[in-house]
Amino acid sequence: MNEKDIFDDGKTFLTSTLQRMILVLKASSGSLFLFNQRDNELVLSAYYNAKGFVLTDIKKQIGEGVAGSVLKIRRAILVHDIDKDPRFNSNGFEHYHGKSFISIPLFCNDELIGLINITDKVSGEPFTEEDLAFADNELKHQLHRLADQRAIIEENQCLRDKIAKASRGKFQNITGKHPRMLKIYSLIEAVASTRATVLINGESGTGKRLAAHAIHNCNPEERKKPFVEVSCGALTETLLDSELFGHVKGAFTGAFRDRSGRFEMADKGTIFLDEIDSFTLPMQVKLLRVLQDGEFERVGDGKTIKVDIRIIAATNQNLQKLIEQGKFRKDLYYRLNIINIELPPLRERVSDIPLLVHDLIIKHAKQLGKDVRSVSAETLERLKRYPWPGNIRELENVIERAVILSQGPVLELHDMPDHFHNVEPSIHVDAELFPDVPDDKLRSVARDSEYRHILDALNVAEGSRSKAAERLGIDRTTLYKKMVNHGMIKVKRSRTAKASMFPAEA
Ligand SMILES: Nc1ncnc2c1ncn2[C@@H]1O[C@H](COP(=O)(O)OP(=O)(O)O)[C@@H](O)[C@H]1O
Ligand SMILES: [Mg+2]
Repeated sequence: MNEKDIFDDGKTFLTSTLQRMILVLKASSGSLFLFNQRDNELVLSAYYNAKGFVLTDIKKQIGEGVAGSVLKIRRAILVHDIDKDPRFNSNGFEHYHGKSFISIPLFCNDELIGLINITDKVSGEPFTEEDLAFADNELKHQLHRLADQRAIIEENQCLRDKIAKASRGKFQNITGKHPRMLKIYSLIEAVASTRATVLINGESGTGKRLAAHAIHNCNPEERKKPFVEVSCGALTETLLDSELFGHVKGAFTGAFRDRSGRFEMADKGTIFLDEIDSFTLPMQVKLLRVLQDGEFERVGDGKTIKVDIRIIAATNQNLQKLIEQGKFRKDLYYRLNIINIELPPLRERVSDIPLLVHDLIIKHAKQLGKDVRSVSAETLERLKRYPWPGNIRELENVIERAVILSQGPVLELHDMPDHFHNVEPSIHVDAELFPDVPDDKLRSVARDSEYRHILDALNVAEGSRSKAAERLGIDRTTLYKKMVNHGMIKVKRSRTAKASMFPAEA
Protein backbone atom coordinates (compact mmCIF):
# COMPACT_ATOMS: atom_id res chain seq x y z
CA MET A 1 0.00 0.00 0.00
CA ASN A 2 1.48 3.34 -0.89
CA GLU A 3 1.62 6.43 1.28
CA LYS A 4 -1.14 8.18 -0.61
CA ASP A 5 -3.58 5.36 0.10
CA ILE A 6 -2.81 5.51 3.79
CA PHE A 7 -3.32 9.26 3.75
CA ASP A 8 -6.69 8.93 1.98
CA ASP A 9 -7.71 6.15 4.29
CA GLY A 10 -6.95 8.16 7.38
CA LYS A 11 -8.70 11.15 5.89
CA THR A 12 -12.04 9.41 5.37
CA PHE A 13 -11.80 7.77 8.74
CA LEU A 14 -10.89 10.91 10.65
CA THR A 15 -13.42 13.01 8.81
CA SER A 16 -16.25 10.82 10.08
CA THR A 17 -14.71 10.89 13.57
CA LEU A 18 -14.67 14.67 13.40
CA GLN A 19 -18.30 14.79 12.35
CA ARG A 20 -19.30 12.55 15.21
CA MET A 21 -17.41 14.63 17.77
CA ILE A 22 -19.08 17.79 16.55
CA LEU A 23 -22.46 16.14 16.99
CA VAL A 24 -21.75 14.76 20.45
CA LEU A 25 -20.15 17.96 21.78
CA LYS A 26 -22.85 20.07 20.11
CA ALA A 27 -20.15 22.23 18.56
CA SER A 28 -20.77 24.77 15.84
CA SER A 29 -17.74 23.89 13.75
CA GLY A 30 -14.71 21.68 13.54
CA SER A 31 -11.74 21.11 11.32
CA LEU A 32 -9.30 18.37 10.48
CA PHE A 33 -5.71 19.20 9.57
CA LEU A 34 -3.50 16.50 8.18
CA PHE A 35 0.25 16.74 8.40
CA ASN A 36 2.20 16.72 5.19
CA GLN A 37 5.63 15.53 6.16
CA ARG A 38 7.36 16.45 2.95
CA ASP A 39 6.50 20.16 3.15
CA ASN A 40 6.29 20.20 6.94
CA GLU A 41 2.88 21.81 6.82
CA LEU A 42 -0.64 21.19 8.01
CA VAL A 43 -3.26 20.89 5.31
CA LEU A 44 -6.83 21.74 6.19
CA SER A 45 -8.48 18.57 4.93
CA ALA A 46 -11.99 18.92 6.26
CA TYR A 47 -13.94 21.77 7.73
CA TYR A 48 -17.46 21.40 9.05
CA ASN A 49 -19.78 24.17 10.19
CA ALA A 50 -23.48 24.96 10.47
CA LYS A 51 -23.67 25.44 6.71
CA GLY A 52 -22.47 21.96 6.02
CA PHE A 53 -19.37 20.06 5.20
CA VAL A 54 -16.66 21.62 3.06
CA LEU A 55 -13.37 20.24 1.86
CA THR A 56 -10.60 22.75 1.28
CA ASP A 57 -6.90 22.75 0.71
CA ILE A 58 -5.78 25.54 3.00
CA LYS A 59 -2.25 25.03 4.26
CA LYS A 60 -0.57 26.18 7.44
CA GLN A 61 3.06 26.11 8.42
CA ILE A 62 3.82 24.23 11.60
CA GLY A 63 4.25 26.57 14.52
CA GLU A 64 1.43 28.99 13.78
CA GLY A 65 -1.29 29.78 16.30
CA VAL A 66 -2.95 27.27 18.55
CA ALA A 67 -1.94 24.47 16.21
CA GLY A 68 1.69 25.34 16.74
CA SER A 69 1.37 25.22 20.51
CA VAL A 70 -0.59 22.00 20.48
CA LEU A 71 1.99 20.32 18.33
CA LYS A 72 4.81 21.61 20.53
CA ILE A 73 3.30 20.27 23.74
CA ARG A 74 1.98 17.17 21.93
CA ARG A 75 -1.27 17.02 23.84
CA ALA A 76 -4.82 18.35 23.68
CA ILE A 77 -5.61 21.86 24.87
CA LEU A 78 -8.78 23.63 25.91
CA VAL A 79 -9.27 27.35 25.24
CA HIS A 80 -12.16 29.04 27.01
CA ASP A 81 -11.98 32.35 25.20
CA ILE A 82 -9.82 32.66 22.12
CA ASP A 83 -9.75 36.45 22.22
CA LYS A 84 -8.21 36.46 25.66
CA ASP A 85 -5.75 33.65 25.09
CA PRO A 86 -2.17 34.79 24.39
CA ARG A 87 -1.41 31.51 22.60
CA PHE A 88 -3.92 32.31 19.91
CA ASN A 89 -2.70 33.95 16.75
CA SER A 90 -5.80 35.12 14.92
CA ASN A 91 -3.92 35.39 11.62
CA GLY A 92 -3.73 31.67 11.37
CA PHE A 93 -7.32 31.04 12.29
CA GLU A 94 -9.29 33.69 10.50
CA HIS A 95 -11.65 30.97 9.29
CA TYR A 96 -13.01 30.48 12.75
CA HIS A 97 -14.96 33.18 14.43
CA GLY A 98 -15.41 31.16 17.54
CA LYS A 99 -14.38 31.80 21.09
CA SER A 100 -14.17 28.44 22.82
CA PHE A 101 -11.85 25.87 21.37
CA ILE A 102 -10.63 22.30 21.74
CA SER A 103 -7.52 21.36 19.82
CA ILE A 104 -6.13 17.84 19.75
CA PRO A 105 -2.97 16.61 18.02
CA LEU A 106 -3.31 13.28 16.21
CA PHE A 107 -0.60 10.73 16.75
CA CYS A 108 -0.75 7.35 15.11
CA ASN A 109 1.95 5.01 16.42
CA ASP A 110 3.80 8.03 17.81
CA GLU A 111 3.91 9.64 14.42
CA LEU A 112 2.19 13.00 14.05
CA ILE A 113 -0.50 12.74 11.41
CA GLY A 114 -2.53 15.87 12.06
CA LEU A 115 -4.73 17.90 14.31
CA ILE A 116 -8.41 18.26 15.07
CA ASN A 117 -10.04 21.52 16.18
CA ILE A 118 -13.55 21.81 17.58
CA THR A 119 -14.99 25.30 17.95
CA ASP A 120 -17.80 26.78 20.06
CA LYS A 121 -20.77 25.01 21.47
CA VAL A 122 -23.99 25.85 19.68
CA SER A 123 -25.35 26.98 23.07
CA GLY A 124 -22.64 29.64 23.32
CA GLU A 125 -21.21 28.13 26.51
CA PRO A 126 -17.48 27.37 26.66
CA PHE A 127 -16.23 23.81 26.38
CA THR A 128 -15.54 22.07 29.68
CA GLU A 129 -12.72 19.83 30.90
CA GLU A 130 -15.14 16.90 30.49
CA ASP A 131 -15.65 17.80 26.84
CA LEU A 132 -11.90 17.87 26.37
CA ALA A 133 -11.47 14.50 28.09
CA PHE A 134 -14.24 12.98 26.00
CA ALA A 135 -12.82 14.27 22.72
CA ASP A 136 -9.29 13.26 23.64
CA ASN A 137 -10.30 9.72 24.65
CA GLU A 138 -12.53 9.26 21.65
CA LEU A 139 -9.74 10.31 19.32
CA LYS A 140 -7.17 8.11 21.01
CA HIS A 141 -9.52 5.19 20.60
CA GLN A 142 -10.12 5.98 16.94
CA LEU A 143 -6.42 6.44 16.31
CA HIS A 144 -5.75 3.00 17.75
CA ARG A 145 -8.27 1.60 15.33
CA LEU A 146 -6.66 3.50 12.50
CA ALA A 147 -3.25 2.16 13.48
CA ASP A 148 -4.66 -1.37 13.53
CA GLN A 149 -6.27 -0.89 10.15
CA ARG A 150 -3.10 0.43 8.66
CA ALA A 151 -1.13 -2.43 10.07
CA ILE A 152 -3.59 -4.96 8.69
CA ILE A 153 -3.72 -3.28 5.30
CA GLU A 154 0.03 -3.11 5.05
CA GLU A 155 0.51 -6.64 6.29
CA ASN A 156 -2.05 -7.94 3.84
CA GLN A 157 -0.52 -6.06 0.96
CA CYS A 158 2.83 -7.51 1.84
CA LEU A 159 1.34 -11.00 2.02
CA ARG A 160 -0.43 -10.53 -1.29
CA ASP A 161 2.70 -9.32 -3.02
CA LYS A 162 4.65 -12.28 -1.75
CA ILE A 163 2.03 -14.73 -2.88
CA ALA A 164 1.55 -13.07 -6.21
CA LYS A 165 5.21 -13.77 -6.78
CA ALA A 166 5.28 -17.25 -5.32
CA SER A 167 2.18 -19.20 -6.15
CA ARG A 168 0.55 -17.52 -9.11
CA GLY A 169 1.63 -18.04 -12.61
CA LYS A 170 -0.44 -20.39 -14.65
CA PHE A 171 -3.61 -20.44 -12.57
CA GLN A 172 -4.48 -16.82 -12.07
CA ASN A 173 -7.89 -17.52 -10.59
CA ILE A 174 -7.14 -20.48 -8.36
CA THR A 175 -6.02 -19.28 -4.97
CA GLY A 176 -4.27 -21.45 -2.46
CA LYS A 177 -0.82 -22.60 -1.45
CA HIS A 178 -1.74 -25.46 0.84
CA PRO A 179 0.47 -28.47 0.00
CA ARG A 180 -2.57 -30.32 -1.35
CA MET A 181 -3.31 -27.42 -3.68
CA LEU A 182 0.30 -27.28 -4.87
CA LYS A 183 0.05 -30.95 -5.77
CA ILE A 184 -3.14 -30.22 -7.68
CA TYR A 185 -1.42 -27.46 -9.64
CA SER A 186 1.32 -29.86 -10.75
CA LEU A 187 -1.29 -32.42 -11.67
CA ILE A 188 -3.24 -29.87 -13.71
CA GLU A 189 -0.08 -28.85 -15.53
CA ALA A 190 0.83 -32.43 -16.19
CA VAL A 191 -2.55 -33.47 -17.60
CA ALA A 192 -2.96 -30.24 -19.55
CA SER A 193 -0.29 -31.39 -21.97
CA THR A 194 -2.19 -34.65 -22.65
CA ARG A 195 -5.72 -35.42 -23.85
CA ALA A 196 -6.29 -37.93 -21.07
CA THR A 197 -9.70 -38.23 -19.45
CA VAL A 198 -9.82 -36.57 -16.04
CA LEU A 199 -12.18 -37.19 -13.14
CA ILE A 200 -12.44 -34.35 -10.64
CA ASN A 201 -13.79 -35.15 -7.18
CA GLY A 202 -14.66 -32.80 -4.40
CA GLU A 203 -17.50 -31.46 -2.31
CA SER A 204 -19.71 -28.79 -3.78
CA GLY A 205 -17.96 -25.44 -3.99
CA THR A 206 -14.40 -26.72 -3.79
CA GLY A 207 -13.44 -25.45 -7.22
CA LYS A 208 -14.05 -28.42 -9.53
CA ARG A 209 -15.29 -26.23 -12.33
CA LEU A 210 -12.35 -23.90 -11.85
CA ALA A 211 -9.95 -26.83 -12.09
CA ALA A 212 -11.63 -28.08 -15.28
CA HIS A 213 -11.20 -24.68 -16.88
CA ALA A 214 -7.60 -24.52 -15.71
CA ILE A 215 -6.82 -27.85 -17.38
CA HIS A 216 -8.15 -26.54 -20.67
CA ASN A 217 -6.63 -23.07 -20.46
CA CYS A 218 -3.23 -24.12 -19.18
CA ASN A 219 -2.10 -25.49 -22.53
CA PRO A 220 -1.88 -22.74 -25.19
CA GLU A 221 -2.68 -25.25 -27.96
CA GLU A 222 -5.76 -26.63 -26.21
CA ARG A 223 -6.97 -23.16 -25.27
CA LYS A 224 -7.58 -22.37 -28.95
CA LYS A 225 -9.91 -25.36 -29.24
CA PRO A 226 -13.53 -25.53 -28.09
CA PHE A 227 -14.37 -26.02 -24.41
CA VAL A 228 -17.96 -27.09 -23.84
CA GLU A 229 -19.49 -27.31 -20.41
CA VAL A 230 -22.61 -29.29 -19.47
CA SER A 231 -24.26 -29.23 -16.04
CA CYS A 232 -25.66 -32.71 -16.30
CA GLY A 233 -27.51 -32.64 -12.99
CA ALA A 234 -29.77 -29.85 -14.17
CA LEU A 235 -31.27 -31.87 -17.02
CA THR A 236 -33.73 -34.76 -17.25
CA GLU A 237 -32.56 -37.90 -19.04
CA THR A 238 -34.34 -37.00 -22.29
CA LEU A 239 -33.06 -33.45 -22.31
CA LEU A 240 -29.52 -34.50 -21.43
CA ASP A 241 -29.64 -37.09 -24.20
CA SER A 242 -30.52 -34.58 -26.90
CA GLU A 243 -28.33 -31.88 -25.35
CA LEU A 244 -25.25 -34.10 -25.48
CA PHE A 245 -25.86 -36.11 -28.64
CA GLY A 246 -28.15 -33.80 -30.62
CA HIS A 247 -31.27 -34.92 -32.44
CA VAL A 248 -32.87 -34.98 -35.85
CA LYS A 249 -36.12 -33.39 -36.90
CA GLY A 250 -39.10 -35.37 -35.65
CA ALA A 251 -37.06 -37.44 -33.17
CA PHE A 252 -39.51 -36.42 -30.44
CA THR A 253 -42.35 -33.96 -29.95
CA GLY A 254 -40.85 -30.52 -30.22
CA ALA A 255 -37.88 -31.56 -32.36
CA PHE A 256 -38.73 -29.23 -35.23
CA ARG A 257 -35.34 -29.35 -36.88
CA ASP A 258 -31.99 -31.10 -36.76
CA ARG A 259 -29.81 -29.99 -33.92
CA SER A 260 -26.20 -30.84 -33.16
CA GLY A 261 -25.31 -31.81 -29.60
CA ARG A 262 -22.56 -30.72 -27.26
CA PHE A 263 -20.30 -33.60 -28.19
CA GLU A 264 -20.26 -32.39 -31.78
CA MET A 265 -19.60 -28.83 -30.65
CA ALA A 266 -16.70 -30.02 -28.52
CA ASP A 267 -15.08 -32.00 -31.34
CA LYS A 268 -11.25 -31.66 -31.29
CA GLY A 269 -11.58 -29.85 -27.96
CA THR A 270 -12.72 -30.62 -24.44
CA ILE A 271 -16.11 -31.33 -22.92
CA PHE A 272 -16.63 -30.77 -19.20
CA LEU A 273 -19.38 -33.01 -17.83
CA ASP A 274 -20.26 -31.62 -14.44
CA GLU A 275 -22.26 -33.80 -12.01
CA ILE A 276 -21.48 -36.96 -13.90
CA ASP A 277 -23.18 -38.96 -11.11
CA SER A 278 -26.57 -37.84 -12.41
CA PHE A 279 -26.18 -39.91 -15.59
CA THR A 280 -28.81 -42.65 -15.78
CA LEU A 281 -27.61 -46.17 -16.61
CA PRO A 282 -28.72 -45.99 -20.30
CA MET A 283 -26.92 -42.64 -20.64
CA GLN A 284 -23.84 -44.16 -19.03
CA VAL A 285 -23.78 -46.78 -21.78
CA LYS A 286 -23.84 -44.07 -24.43
CA LEU A 287 -21.10 -42.13 -22.70
CA LEU A 288 -18.97 -45.23 -22.39
CA ARG A 289 -19.14 -45.67 -26.14
CA VAL A 290 -17.99 -42.09 -26.72
CA LEU A 291 -15.11 -42.70 -24.33
CA GLN A 292 -14.09 -45.99 -25.92
CA ASP A 293 -14.70 -45.36 -29.60
CA GLY A 294 -15.48 -41.65 -29.93
CA GLU A 295 -18.80 -42.64 -31.54
CA PHE A 296 -22.48 -41.87 -31.10
CA GLU A 297 -25.68 -41.14 -33.00
CA ARG A 298 -27.97 -38.16 -32.77
CA VAL A 299 -31.31 -38.96 -31.12
CA GLY A 300 -33.64 -40.36 -33.80
CA ASP A 301 -30.84 -40.87 -36.32
CA GLY A 302 -29.04 -43.97 -37.55
CA LYS A 303 -25.92 -42.22 -38.81
CA THR A 304 -22.86 -42.66 -36.62
CA ILE A 305 -20.87 -39.55 -35.82
CA LYS A 306 -17.18 -39.76 -34.91
CA VAL A 307 -15.54 -37.23 -32.65
CA ASP A 308 -12.19 -36.62 -31.02
CA ILE A 309 -12.90 -35.27 -27.60
CA ARG A 310 -11.12 -34.96 -24.31
CA ILE A 311 -13.53 -35.55 -21.44
CA ILE A 312 -13.26 -33.95 -18.04
CA ALA A 313 -15.91 -35.17 -15.61
CA ALA A 314 -16.69 -33.89 -12.13
CA THR A 315 -18.72 -35.16 -9.22
CA ASN A 316 -19.33 -34.42 -5.57
CA GLN A 317 -20.49 -38.00 -5.02
CA ASN A 318 -18.51 -41.05 -4.09
CA LEU A 319 -18.74 -42.99 -7.36
CA GLN A 320 -17.50 -46.18 -5.75
CA LYS A 321 -20.47 -46.11 -3.41
CA LEU A 322 -22.77 -45.53 -6.38
CA ILE A 323 -21.19 -48.57 -8.04
CA GLU A 324 -21.93 -50.67 -4.94
CA GLN A 325 -25.52 -49.46 -5.07
CA GLY A 326 -25.73 -50.44 -8.73
CA LYS A 327 -26.23 -46.85 -9.83
CA PHE A 328 -22.97 -46.37 -11.64
CA ARG A 329 -21.23 -48.64 -14.12
CA LYS A 330 -17.88 -49.94 -13.01
CA ASP A 331 -16.48 -50.02 -16.55
CA LEU A 332 -17.44 -46.37 -17.06
CA TYR A 333 -15.83 -45.47 -13.75
CA TYR A 334 -12.53 -47.01 -14.79
CA ARG A 335 -12.68 -45.24 -18.14
CA LEU A 336 -13.29 -41.91 -16.46
CA ASN A 337 -10.89 -42.32 -13.63
CA ILE A 338 -7.67 -42.29 -15.65
CA ILE A 339 -6.40 -39.19 -13.91
CA ASN A 340 -8.08 -38.28 -10.66
CA ILE A 341 -8.00 -34.83 -9.13
CA GLU A 342 -9.35 -34.67 -5.60
CA LEU A 343 -10.13 -31.16 -4.38
CA PRO A 344 -9.91 -30.86 -0.59
CA PRO A 345 -12.79 -29.30 1.35
CA LEU A 346 -11.97 -25.83 2.65
CA ARG A 347 -11.93 -26.97 6.30
CA GLU A 348 -8.98 -29.20 5.43
CA ARG A 349 -6.95 -26.30 4.12
CA VAL A 350 -7.67 -23.68 6.75
CA SER A 351 -4.24 -22.14 6.13
CA ASP A 352 -5.51 -20.94 2.73
CA ILE A 353 -8.43 -19.02 4.23
CA PRO A 354 -6.59 -15.69 4.76
CA LEU A 355 -5.41 -15.73 1.15
CA LEU A 356 -8.79 -16.68 -0.24
CA VAL A 357 -10.49 -14.06 1.88
CA HIS A 358 -8.17 -11.36 0.61
CA ASP A 359 -8.41 -12.38 -3.01
CA LEU A 360 -12.20 -12.52 -2.77
CA ILE A 361 -12.30 -9.10 -1.10
CA ILE A 362 -10.26 -7.59 -3.93
CA LYS A 363 -12.42 -9.35 -6.54
CA HIS A 364 -15.73 -8.19 -5.12
CA ALA A 365 -14.60 -4.72 -4.06
CA LYS A 366 -13.54 -4.18 -7.66
CA GLN A 367 -16.80 -5.52 -9.06
CA LEU A 368 -18.87 -3.43 -6.65
CA GLY A 369 -16.67 -0.37 -6.98
CA LYS A 370 -16.07 -0.22 -3.23
CA ASP A 371 -12.90 0.65 -1.41
CA VAL A 372 -12.65 -2.44 0.77
CA ARG A 373 -9.20 -3.91 1.17
CA SER A 374 -8.98 -6.27 4.08
CA VAL A 375 -10.56 -7.89 7.07
CA SER A 376 -10.09 -7.33 10.80
CA ALA A 377 -8.00 -9.85 12.69
CA GLU A 378 -10.97 -10.88 14.84
CA THR A 379 -13.18 -11.52 11.82
CA LEU A 380 -10.48 -13.50 10.05
CA GLU A 381 -10.11 -15.66 13.15
CA ARG A 382 -13.84 -16.47 13.04
CA LEU A 383 -13.67 -17.20 9.34
CA LYS A 384 -10.82 -19.60 9.99
CA ARG A 385 -12.74 -21.43 12.69
CA TYR A 386 -15.94 -21.85 10.72
CA PRO A 387 -16.31 -25.31 9.11
CA TRP A 388 -17.47 -24.07 5.66
CA PRO A 389 -19.85 -26.84 4.62
CA GLY A 390 -20.38 -24.93 1.34
CA ASN A 391 -16.64 -24.53 0.85
CA ILE A 392 -15.26 -21.69 -1.26
CA ARG A 393 -18.63 -20.93 -2.82
CA GLU A 394 -20.01 -20.24 0.65
CA LEU A 395 -16.94 -18.24 1.62
CA GLU A 396 -17.29 -16.20 -1.54
CA ASN A 397 -20.95 -15.45 -0.79
CA VAL A 398 -20.09 -14.37 2.74
CA ILE A 399 -17.32 -12.07 1.52
CA GLU A 400 -19.41 -10.58 -1.27
CA ARG A 401 -22.20 -9.82 1.18
CA ALA A 402 -19.75 -8.30 3.65
CA VAL A 403 -18.19 -6.09 0.97
CA ILE A 404 -21.67 -4.82 0.12
CA LEU A 405 -22.46 -4.06 3.77
CA SER A 406 -19.06 -2.70 4.71
CA GLN A 407 -18.72 0.98 5.52
CA GLY A 408 -14.97 1.18 5.69
CA PRO A 409 -11.85 -0.31 4.12
CA VAL A 410 -11.75 -3.20 6.59
CA LEU A 411 -14.44 -5.88 6.91
CA GLU A 412 -15.61 -6.21 10.49
CA LEU A 413 -17.46 -8.92 12.38
CA HIS A 414 -20.74 -7.04 12.06
CA ASP A 415 -20.45 -7.29 8.27
CA MET A 416 -20.64 -11.08 8.58
CA PRO A 417 -23.88 -13.10 8.65
CA ASP A 418 -25.49 -13.56 12.07
CA HIS A 419 -24.29 -17.07 12.65
CA PHE A 420 -20.71 -15.77 12.76
CA HIS A 421 -21.28 -13.72 15.88
CA ASN A 422 -24.26 -15.35 17.59
CA VAL A 423 -23.51 -19.01 17.31
CA GLU A 424 -20.19 -20.68 17.86
CA PRO A 425 -19.53 -22.41 14.58
CA SER A 426 -19.99 -26.15 14.71
CA ILE A 427 -17.05 -28.08 13.51
CA HIS A 428 -16.73 -30.88 11.10
CA VAL A 429 -15.87 -34.12 12.82
CA ASP A 430 -14.24 -36.77 10.74
CA ALA A 431 -15.68 -39.83 12.44
CA GLU A 432 -13.05 -42.08 10.90
CA LEU A 433 -10.37 -40.24 12.82
CA PHE A 434 -12.18 -40.67 16.12
CA PRO A 435 -13.39 -44.24 16.27
CA ASP A 436 -13.40 -44.26 20.08
CA VAL A 437 -15.47 -41.13 20.57
CA PRO A 438 -19.11 -42.10 20.93
CA ASP A 439 -21.66 -40.23 18.83
CA ASP A 440 -23.45 -38.63 21.76
CA LYS A 441 -20.10 -37.36 22.99
CA LEU A 442 -19.47 -35.87 19.57
CA ARG A 443 -22.82 -34.14 19.79
CA SER A 444 -22.23 -32.71 23.25
CA VAL A 445 -19.06 -31.21 21.85
CA ALA A 446 -21.21 -28.33 20.75
CA ARG A 447 -21.31 -27.08 24.32
CA ASP A 448 -17.69 -27.37 25.08
CA SER A 449 -15.54 -24.88 23.33
CA GLU A 450 -12.17 -26.31 24.34
CA TYR A 451 -13.17 -29.79 23.35
CA ARG A 452 -14.35 -28.43 20.03
CA HIS A 453 -11.13 -26.59 19.41
CA ILE A 454 -9.11 -29.67 20.14
CA LEU A 455 -11.20 -31.83 17.87
CA ASP A 456 -11.05 -29.18 15.21
CA ALA A 457 -7.29 -28.96 15.41
CA LEU A 458 -6.92 -32.75 15.35
CA ASN A 459 -9.19 -32.91 12.35
CA VAL A 460 -7.21 -30.38 10.43
CA ALA A 461 -3.99 -32.06 11.47
CA GLU A 462 -5.44 -35.37 10.28
CA GLY A 463 -4.98 -36.89 13.69
CA SER A 464 -1.39 -35.76 14.25
CA ARG A 465 -1.16 -34.64 17.86
CA SER A 466 2.03 -32.63 17.45
CA LYS A 467 0.57 -30.69 14.55
CA ALA A 468 -2.71 -30.18 16.39
CA ALA A 469 -0.84 -28.91 19.45
CA GLU A 470 1.12 -26.50 17.29
CA ARG A 471 -2.10 -25.27 15.77
CA LEU A 472 -3.60 -24.73 19.18
CA GLY A 473 -0.49 -22.96 20.43
CA ILE A 474 0.10 -25.44 23.25
CA ASP A 475 2.71 -28.15 23.71
CA ARG A 476 2.05 -31.83 23.09
CA THR A 477 1.96 -32.79 26.75
CA THR A 478 -0.66 -30.15 27.51
CA LEU A 479 -2.71 -31.34 24.58
CA TYR A 480 -2.35 -34.92 25.77
CA LYS A 481 -3.55 -33.99 29.27
CA LYS A 482 -6.47 -32.06 27.89
CA MET A 483 -7.46 -34.99 25.70
CA VAL A 484 -7.37 -37.28 28.72
CA ASN A 485 -9.48 -34.77 30.65
CA HIS A 486 -12.05 -34.66 27.93
CA GLY A 487 -12.15 -38.43 27.76
CA MET A 488 -10.79 -38.37 24.25
CA ILE A 489 -8.05 -40.78 25.18
CA LYS A 490 -8.45 -43.90 27.24
CA VAL A 491 -5.55 -44.10 29.67
CA LYS A 492 -4.40 -47.63 30.15
CA ARG A 493 -3.68 -48.84 33.67
CA SER A 494 -0.07 -49.60 32.83
CA ARG A 495 2.57 -46.99 33.63
CA THR A 496 3.06 -46.09 30.01
CA ALA A 497 -0.16 -44.34 29.29
CA LYS A 498 -1.09 -44.91 25.70
CA ALA A 499 -3.70 -43.34 23.59
CA SER A 500 -6.16 -45.67 22.00
CA MET A 501 -7.51 -43.14 19.58
CA PHE A 502 -4.64 -42.49 17.32
CA PRO A 503 -1.91 -44.69 16.07
CA ALA A 504 1.45 -43.79 17.58
CA GLU A 505 3.04 -40.98 15.67
CA ALA A 506 6.28 -41.46 13.86
N1 LIG B 1 -9.11 -22.14 -5.22
C1 LIG B 1 -9.99 -21.17 -5.47
N2 LIG B 1 -9.59 -19.89 -5.51
C2 LIG B 1 -10.47 -18.92 -5.72
N3 LIG B 1 -11.77 -19.10 -5.94
C3 LIG B 1 -12.24 -20.34 -5.92
C4 LIG B 1 -11.36 -21.45 -5.70
N4 LIG B 1 -12.09 -22.57 -5.75
C5 LIG B 1 -13.36 -22.18 -5.98
N5 LIG B 1 -13.46 -20.86 -6.09
C6 LIG B 1 -14.69 -20.08 -6.33
O1 LIG B 1 -15.72 -20.72 -5.61
C7 LIG B 1 -16.90 -20.85 -6.39
C8 LIG B 1 -17.25 -22.30 -6.58
O2 LIG B 1 -16.28 -22.91 -7.40
P1 LIG B 1 -16.65 -24.06 -8.45
O3 LIG B 1 -15.45 -24.32 -9.28
O4 LIG B 1 -17.92 -23.73 -9.18
O5 LIG B 1 -16.91 -25.25 -7.42
P2 LIG B 1 -17.54 -26.69 -7.68
O6 LIG B 1 -17.59 -26.90 -9.17
O7 LIG B 1 -16.60 -27.63 -6.99
O8 LIG B 1 -18.89 -26.67 -7.03
C9 LIG B 1 -16.61 -20.13 -7.69
O9 LIG B 1 -17.09 -18.81 -7.61
C10 LIG B 1 -15.11 -20.14 -7.78
O10 LIG B 1 -14.63 -19.03 -8.50
MG1 LIG C 1 -19.82 -27.12 -9.72
